[in-house]
Amino acid sequence: MVGLPGSGKSTWLEKLGVSAISSDSIRQLLADDPTDQTLHARVFATMRYLVRHRLALGRPATYVDATHLTPEERAPYLKLAAVYGCPVEAVFFHVSVEECLERNRRRDRNVPEEAIRAMQSKLVPPAPEEGFDRITVVADCVPSGEPG
Ligand SMILES: Nc1ncnc2c1ncn2[C@@H]1O[C@H](COP(=O)(O)OP(=O)(O)OP(=O)(O)O)[C@@H](O)[C@H]1O
Ligand SMILES: [Mg+2]
Repeated sequence: MVGLPGSGKSTWLEKLGVSAISSDSIRQLLADDPTDQTLHARVFATMRYLVRHRLALGRPATYVDATHLTPEERAPYLKLAAVYGCPVEAVFFHVSVEECLERNRRRDRNVPEEAIRAMQSKLVPPAPEEGFDRITVVADCVPSGEPG
């Protein structure tokens, strides 16, 4: 998944009916708080660890739910996939920052507006040159087809 806070990543996965490796749930597991932003490196190391074990087990699909806004943040998954010889799809939530802010205001867990605006300025949409086998663009939360 690639998208700003409030863009609908977790909602989309929920509608798809899959369980994802989610940075919020890892924060909860590690620090008893899904909003704790102080454990960034540990949270993402744990996510990669889980992805690696799923790939080693040969699971048919693995979903990773985090913002993944830059090629640098996405590269570790492409590297892992290369090691295990499996394809990688980016699902990009192409939602305007104003819409993300509005959705974020309406939900229980509110990411600070300044944080979302700062993230918008570093967002780089996923590109084929990064090594993705498929890039899917989602403009609303309804899954448009069979992913992956
Ligand atoms: N297509 C949509 N149209 C309108 N509202 C939506 C849509 N998708 C999600 N929402 C609502 O927007 C809010 C944010 O969605 P969601 O929590 O899925 O975003 P997220 O991308 O997972 O954010 P975060 O990165 O902070 O976890 C939720 O309240 C959700 O119900
Ligand atoms: Mg989410």
